[in-house]
Amino acid sequence: MSEKNITLTKSEGVPTRAKDGSILSQNQNIVKSDRKFLSAPHMSGNELKYIEKVFESNYIAPLGEYVNRFEQSIKEYTGAKNALAVTSGTAALHLALRVLGIGKGDDVLASSFTFIGSINAIIYQGANPVFIDSDKQSWNLSPKLLNKYLCECEKKPRALIVTHLYGMCADIEKIKTICDTHGIYLIEDAAESLGATFDGKHTGTFGDFGIYSFNGNKILTTSGGGMLVSDNEEWIQKAKFYSTQAKEPYIHYEHLEYGYNYRMSNVLAAIGVAQMEVIEDRVLKKREIFEWYKKYLGDVEEITFMPELQNSRGNRWLTAMIFEKVNYNNIMKALEDINVESRPLWKPMHMQPVFKDAKSVVDGVSEELYNHGLCVASSTIMTEDDVKMICEVIKDNLEE
Ligand SMILES: Cc1ncc(COP(=O)(O)O)c(C=O)c1O
Repeated sequence: MSEKNITLTKSEGVPTRAKDGSILSQNQNIVKSDRKFLSAPHMSGNELKYIEKVFESNYIAPLGEYVNRFEQSIKEYTGAKNALAVTSGTAALHLALRVLGIGKGDDVLASSFTFIGSINAIIYQGANPVFIDSDKQSWNLSPKLLNKYLCECEKKPRALIVTHLYGMCADIEKIKTICDTHGIYLIEDAAESLGATFDGKHTGTFGDFGIYSFNGNKILTTSGGGMLVSDNEEWIQKAKFYSTQAKEPYIHYEHLEYGYNYRMSNVLAAIGVAQMEVIEDRVLKKREIFEWYKKYLGDVEEITFMPELQNSRGNRWLTAMIFEKVNYNNIMKALEDINVESRPLWKPMHMQPVFKDAKSVVDGVSEELYNHGLCVASSTIMTEDDVKMICEVIKDNLEE
């Protein structure tokens, strides 16, 4: 199969700032086709062919053959019983909360160490996020803190949204048992972890609902898009109803409830179908990239890589590492100078100004990771020589 690399040709036109506010790069309108991105789109080669077929069918709409085929391929790959293709991972999370009847005043637990896309849907529903810190074993949500909170809290939360960060599995079996014991819904934010498995079962299929994102930087992209999965067919049917403006089955469009316009376009689903043909290759390549970083940096005392839990296979969406006693701003600047993207680990949600009034259960783990961690260029189009060169720059800039 022929493969084409599609790389962005322009930066976003916004100066990139370090955590202290200093400018890392002033790169407006610079042509950047050779830039090493964190995770660039990587086409399989069949995308345009399938898009042409969509045009031939004239189903330029948020329904059609490719939407159905994309949902089918996700079901077959992950083992999920039902799937709904939507406009984004955020939309999928929003639908999950709406279907579960979670709304104004409800508490929803969530990983603190995540991207804000995990949390926004809680706010859309007028519910209150309660943030749970990570553990050191997985860097993901701590089952111990979760259980402690659920045993001690006065107001029982309705659900937990747990993130499998950077494509690496949270301790999902333990987390599921805790949710079941306390009678709260489990929603897996597998936006970053398509292809990651725990005991051979795909992330996204343990919970009441799971979601995947196909944003431009994900392991599989439709430029923008998402998928909601669940073993509960009735819930997915309800989510489909809400995602298509909650139209009652009357020719004049009767409405008993309000809905959203969240269904995925047939054109974008065509990209998704082509991308799914190479998903397993992409997972293996991401894991290989991680192994290259380990090969060239594994013996550097100051560096520790994101762990992988026993019995799990992460998709290593982004290689993430922490630096002991090293100021990584120098490293970021040096990488930027050679046109290589890197980024601090996500700033935990309990530290975000927008959530300053939210409840949280923290013990410093995610804050420590944020203070010392970077994710580095992990695009599947990269070669071992690219990684070797990046590692040399990192080693040359390990300053206190
Ligand atoms: C952990 C996580 N959750 C949710 C989202 C939201 O997905 P989307 O951008 O498709 O809305 C993303 C990615 O963007 C993410 O990384």
